[in-house]
Amino acid sequence: MGDLNIMYGSRHRHHMKKPMWIIVLVLFVCVFLICAYIYPPQSSSACYIFSSRGCKGFTDWLPPITVREYTDEEIVARVVIRDILKSPAIVPKNPKVAFMFLSPGSLPFERLWDKFFQGHEGKFSVYVHASKTKPVHLSRYFLNRDIRSDEVVWGKTSMVDAERRLLTNALQDLDNQQFVLLSDSCVPLYNFDYIYNYLINTNISFVDCFKDPGPHGNGRYSEHMLPEIDVKDFRKGAQWFSMKRQHAVIVMADHLYYSKFQAYCQPGVDGKNCIADEHYLPTFFYMVDPGGIANWSLTHVDWSERKWHPKSYGSQDVTYELLKNITSIDISVHATSDDKREVQRWPCLWNGIQKPCYLFARKFTPETVDKLLHLFSNYSTP
Ligand SMILES: *[C@@H]1O[C@H](CO)[C@@H](O)[C@H](O)[C@H]1NC(C)=O
Ligand SMILES: *[C@@H]1O[C@H](CO)[C@@H](O)[C@H](O)[C@H]1NC(C)=O
Ligand SMILES: *[C@@H]1O[C@H](CO)[C@@H](O)[C@H](O)[C@H]1NC(C)=O
Ligand SMILES: *[C@@H]1O[C@H](CO)[C@@H](O)[C@H](O)[C@H]1NC(C)=O
Repeated sequence: MGDLNIMYGSRHRHHMKKPMWIIVLVLFVCVFLICAYIYPPQSSSACYIFSSRGCKGFTDWLPPITVREYTDEEIVARVVIRDILKSPAIVPKNPKVAFMFLSPGSLPFERLWDKFFQGHEGKFSVYVHASKTKPVHLSRYFLNRDIRSDEVVWGKTSMVDAERRLLTNALQDLDNQQFVLLSDSCVPLYNFDYIYNYLINTNISFVDCFKDPGPHGNGRYSEHMLPEIDVKDFRKGAQWFSMKRQHAVIVMADHLYYSKFQAYCQPGVDGKNCIADEHYLPTFFYMVDPGGIANWSLTHVDWSERKWHPKSYGSQDVTYELLKNITSIDISVHATSDDKREVQRWPCLWNGIQKPCYLFARKFTPETVDKLLHLFSNYSTP
C-alpha cells in the first residue's frame, strides 16, 4: 500500500493539477481492487460487491483445480434429469397410487390386500412381478395384473431390473402418481384412505438413504465407479421405496449411473461386492435430488436381532400390540456397520409435520394371514 504515501505524504498535494488527481485516483482504485482480489473480504455485504457468485468462503477464490471435467454422457444425464425435475408435475383429475409387488410367485397376503383395496376402486392400480413361478391369484384386484418378468438374483442388478420393469409398466397409466414397491411378505399397517392421503398429498419420495462408512456401506464401494460416482456420494438404504412420478421417470432416464452399478455389483466376485438394490437408488437420488427424498423407507422391518436376516413374524408374534407398536414409531433410526455402530435418528417429517414413519411392514410369514385378517379393521384405523 506504498502508493498511499503519494497521496497523503505529499506536501505538494494542494498544487497538484486536475489530470494528476485522476491518475492518482485510478491508481488507488486499481490497488484497492487487486488487494480485494488477493485478500477476499469476509463480510456478506462486501461479498456482494466483489463476488458475483455470492459468499461461499475462501476456497472458492482458489483456482478450480479440483473441479473435474464432466464426460459427454454425464452432461447429458445432468441436463435430462434437471429438466425433468424442473418441469411442473401434471396432476391428473384422479390421482392413483401404484402398488408394485416384487415376489417369487404367489402372494400369501392377497386376501388381506383384497380387504384393504375393497371400496377404493379407481384410486389404485396393482402390478405383480413374479420372478420364479406364475402366481395363483385369489383376489380380483390381482387378476391379470402380472407383468412380463424375469429371473431375479439377490444383490445383482437383475433386482433393480425387476423394479424398473414394474416402474415402466406402472408409468404407462398417467393417473399413477406414487409408485410403491412391496414384497410378498409385506402387509399394510393402515386402512386405504390413510395410506392414500399420506402418499398423494406429499411431493417427496420415500427412498431410504444414509451414509454408512462401515463394511456393509462404503466397504462395498468400488473405485471403478469413478469418476462419476465418488465414495463421498455413496449411500445405502433399504430397497422398499415409494416414488413420485417425476422420480420414477428419472430412474427410467438414467443409464449412466445405473450402468456403473450393473458393472460393479456382483456379490461374490472380488472387488464387486456391492449390493445393487441397497445402493443404486440411495446413491442416485443423493447425487441428483437429495432434497426430494425423505431418507427413510415406509416399510418397517426389525433388524434388532442383528442376524443376517431381519426378524420374521410368526402367528404367535402377531398381536394388536405389535402392530400398534410399529405404527407408533415416528423417528427413523439408522445404524452404521463399523465398530462405532453410530446410530442416526431423524424425526419422520411429512410436509414438515412429525408423523408415523411406517405404512407397511415386513416380514410376515404366510400363516399369519388369518390372524392379520381378523385384526385388520381394528389395528388399521389411525
Ligand atoms: C414441496 O412443496 C412445498 C410446498 O408446496 C415446497 O415448499 C417444497 O419445496 C416442495 N419440495 C419439493 C422437493 O418439490
Ligand atoms: C434427506 O437428506 C438430505 C441430505 O442427504 C437432505 O438434504 C434432505 O433435506 C433430507 N430430506 C428430508 C426430507 O429431510
Ligand atoms: C411394544 O413396545 C413396548 C415398549 O417399547 C414393549 O415393552 C413391548 O414389548 C412391545 N410389544 C410388542 C408385542 O412388540
Ligand atoms: C380392538 O381393539 C380394542 C381396543 O384395543 C380391543 O378392546 C378389542 O378387543 C379389539 N378387537 C379385536 C377383535 O381384536
